[in-house]
Amino acid sequence: MNFSFTDEHRLLLGVVREFVHKELGPVAARLDKEARFPEEQIRKASEMGLMGIMIPVQYGGSGMDTISYVLAMEELSRACASTAIIISVNNSLVCEPIFRFGSEEQKHRFLIPLARGEKLGCFALTEPQAGSDAAGLKTTAVKKIGRYVLNGTKLFITNGAHADVAIVFAVTDVTKGAHGISAFMVEKGTPGFSVGKVEEKMGLRASDLVELNFQDCTIPEENLLGKEGDGFGIAMITLDGGRIGVATQSVGIARACLEEALRYSKERFQFGQPISGFQAIRFMLADMSMEIEAARLLTFRAAYLKDRGLPYTKEASQAKLFASEMANRVAFKALQIFGGYGYTTDFPVEKWYRDARVTTLYEGTSEIQRLVIARELLRT
Ligand code: CAA
Repeated sequence: MNFSFTDEHRLLLGVVREFVHKELGPVAARLDKEARFPEEQIRKASEMGLMGIMIPVQYGGSGMDTISYVLAMEELSRACASTAIIISVNNSLVCEPIFRFGSEEQKHRFLIPLARGEKLGCFALTEPQAGSDAAGLKTTAVKKIGRYVLNGTKLFITNGAHADVAIVFAVTDVTKGAHGISAFMVEKGTPGFSVGKVEEKMGLRASDLVELNFQDCTIPEENLLGKEGDGFGIAMITLDGGRIGVATQSVGIARACLEEALRYSKERFQFGQPISGFQAIRFMLADMSMEIEAARLLTFRAAYLKDRGLPYTKEASQAKLFASEMANRVAFKALQIFGGYGYTTDFPVEKWYRDARVTTLYEGTSEIQRLVIARELLRT
């Protein structure tokens, strides 16, 4: 077992930390307050090669491994979880499936600009009546000569308002259940494709979450990703990777909470001493640090397996489940340590508390992760 990082990992960490320290951290609170998409920061992240971290250089990416992705995402999330999820979706939910299932022509047309960050992508699976039950999609794609016609509504789509390309899952054969779903790449500006309601959210307020509408939206048949009927499998395999992203995002948010709680506990005096002197506070800090380390190790393990081409569905769900619930516990404790001040917007903990909340919901709820883990356990 080897717990050390490579020189490439350390170099990446240094570069991302500098970006976070100088450019992302200082604006995170304002972006959240104004619910403003971080255009400038995403442009910088693109220049740094962070939009396609795991994609080979020949397809516009940085050619790094999943451990690198995890390291970068933790740092970004520690500073601004909104910016982190925008980048995470583009990397793991958009670039990855196109790299894995796309044809050479599709990789040149779609993947290269997405991995370079010249374009932004979104992943359109969820629908008003199909959240956890992802196979229950109602959006249809009807094949005509040389094209598909899409009709339906997608909901809670991260990056949807800013995306140039959407990976859209739709039913092509209603008689085949999960095996009748196909994946398509739909470009912004295609007639019949529009952005609907923009959600007002509790956390991650600088990233957008929208409804997407497809009304007789006609796309060329070349935009089919993989084969007809492969869509559900593509979505599930893609989400396995995406869940590593949410796990490391959760670790980043929790780390922000711990670091700030440590600092504050040494500065805040009550009963004539810093509150860090009290056992009640020390126990909370100790538990927070232990849980963060445990979540980080689960996340690295899933990433390690993925990098070696080994099965990692169970491990990704375990990492996502534990890390997301851990981030909520840690944010709760950090706010407790800050007391009344933590409840105000003068301190960043209330933002992290809000940002942490969605991690047990998106890319599969905690309940779905438990189902996936149990299914994998029982398979053997
Ligand atoms: N890898 C490969 N194949 C998989 C798979 C995986 N991880 N999981 C399932 N499959 C395959 C199965 O093997 C099966 O194929 P066969 O019939 O050939 O055996 C097929 O897919 C159907 O699988 P299930 O019978 O298990 O399907 P199900 O309908 O019972 O659903 C589920 C399983 C795990 C509950 C799934 O619906 C699920 O993951 N739901 C949660 C959806 C989700 O995570 N949504 C998040 C939306 S995206 C988002 O949040 C992004 C954002 O904007 C940030």
